[in-house]
Amino acid sequence: MHPTHPPYDHSQDAMEPHGGVLVTRFADAKTHSEIESLARSGAPEIRLNVRELADLEMIATGALSPLTGFMGRADYERVVTAGRLASGLPWTIPVTLSARADVAARTKPGQSVLLRGPDNTLVGAMVIEDVFPYDKSREAQNVFGTQDLAHPAVGYLMNDMGDILLGGPIVMLDRTVPPFPAYHNEPRATRALFRELGWKRIVAFQTRNPIHRAHEFITKVALEISDGLLIHPLVGYTKEDDIPAETRMRCYELLLAGYYPKDRVRLSTLPAAMRYAGPKEAIFHAIMRKNYGCTHFIVGRDHAGVGNYYGTYDAQKIFDQYAPEDIGIVPLRFEHSFFCRKCGGMGTGKTCPHDKTHHVFLSGTKVRDMLRAGERPPEEFTRPEVADVLITAMRALAVA
Ligand code: ADX
Repeated sequence: MHPTHPPYDHSQDAMEPHGGVLVTRFADAKTHSEIESLARSGAPEIRLNVRELADLEMIATGALSPLTGFMGRADYERVVTAGRLASGLPWTIPVTLSARADVAARTKPGQSVLLRGPDNTLVGAMVIEDVFPYDKSREAQNVFGTQDLAHPAVGYLMNDMGDILLGGPIVMLDRTVPPFPAYHNEPRATRALFRELGWKRIVAFQTRNPIHRAHEFITKVALEISDGLLIHPLVGYTKEDDIPAETRMRCYELLLAGYYPKDRVRLSTLPAAMRYAGPKEAIFHAIMRKNYGCTHFIVGRDHAGVGNYYGTYDAQKIFDQYAPEDIGIVPLRFEHSFFCRKCGGMGTGKTCPHDKTHHVFLSGTKVRDMLRAGERPPEEFTRPEVADVLITAMRALAVA
């Protein structure tokens, strides 16, 4: 059961995939019929949740190259203990499929199992190579830096994931319907786009928030030293109190239309699940963007953070633990950015000599309160077009 698509030739691309090969794990016609006959033969089945389905698709499209499936024991152990795959390649986030012990007991290495989506649709298959127990507390501590169940990913790991991991290569039958089809581009498509545009220095911007002035500032500073900017919002699972992707996409569209140059910026979605693993996720985010063909990656303050679990610049420091050539994509580190009334412009502690009283700073809570009250935050904090979308979204939520 193997996908038999021709190997991808990246020799004309600005950035090679992580590990050197862009993976594709979508089933060809022959594998399709093999999987259908497996289904008729009553092979064991595993039901994926939304996050696991996102991982499956990220593997199938090559966004998680060189992974060809859910991690087996050797990769898992090395990722959790050393931030690398068994091959030694940098990798910081486990990409795993868990099962309850009673379900796992019905599977054994060498066996093919069917994979179903959350709505029971047949989405693919997996050849089981490894069935192994794992230490959840150790994973929580090593990957997320805490065992606190209030951390969204730790709560999920401890309470929702099964006690056994199943590892092995996957094949996906078809693409799921993307949430924003007009902005959906798999790694092959973004790579083709960059070639077409002639971009050689391509900077990627990860975000799970509306783009405020600080985000706008760092993306534009990065663009000043690049050929093109890929605004690459994560639109897979995010925690409940994050702003939904539908609202954010509207903000990005308006912002791009009003404030960014058309020929040097592209908006495209990343359909991955958010982990909130701070520094470890910064490496993971960078590697995914490398697979999408980007050469540079923005890492600002508290990247992929949540609560107070990580230091403000931990996500930048972690890049120093790896040889730059092993990571490949170059991190662009940005300090906490703000508008300074005395400077009359955006800056950071590196470029602005004035004290905090001149800086426009609003906490997340303050911004939410203003928006809920129908009030636009100051223009130095957020563009009015973005504020209006957020106010409308907050009102709709209040009515619902
Ligand atoms: S994240 O979870 O995707 O990191 P967010 O969308 O807020 O959250 O941030 C996107 C990127 O912008 C991250 O690299 C983050 O570090 C950076 N960032 C956010 N706010 C600021 C700021 N005020 N100054 C500098 N960088 C910032």
